[in-house]
Amino acid sequence: MKSIYLIGFMGSGKTSIAIRLQEKLNLKLQDTDQMIEANYQMEIPTIFAEKGEETFREYESSVLKQTEQEDTIVATGGGIIEREENRLWLQNKRNVFFLETTWEEISQRLIGDQSRPIWNNQSRDKQQLLEQRLPKYQEVATYIIKTDGKSVEQIADQIISKLDA
Ligand code: S3P
Repeated sequence: MKSIYLIGFMGSGKTSIAIRLQEKLNLKLQDTDQMIEANYQMEIPTIFAEKGEETFREYESSVLKQTEQEDTIVATGGGIIEREENRLWLQNKRNVFFLETTWEEISQRLIGDQSRPIWNNQSRDKQQLLEQRLPKYQEVATYIIKTDGKSVEQIADQIISKLDA
């Protein structure tokens, strides 16, 4: 089976849905944030603080292309669609699922989150960032799955039903 890519903003549930899909479909799991941390031996907040966002985006583009093309669920970072080269690369994939979550739900889910440098950057307007990114997610998505009010189980089942179609 061709690999499944999950894209969407921070807090849209990519990681937990990827884990559930992995269990249900018995596939491998890759997470671009974890690949970056493993490849470059640095945690993401440290990369942002010491090397800056541009370097993070270079690392991200590089690991995206190292993801496996068969039998793998790939959870991506929320900004994966920022670079055109990544959008073009994803547009060639068959199973790209955009987990579409509203600002209202995202901001509730990420209350108190300390782990994401962009979320924690007080000078960034995150709601505006979501609006700017929306067309980019849509541009590369094969399928759009609305996640508000749905459980991880429901979303995983919806994704699986598209695969079977
Ligand atoms: C980012 C999202 C994060 C991570 C990094 C940058 C973004 O991943 O890649 O902090 O630009 O939206 P999650 O979407 O898994 O939080």
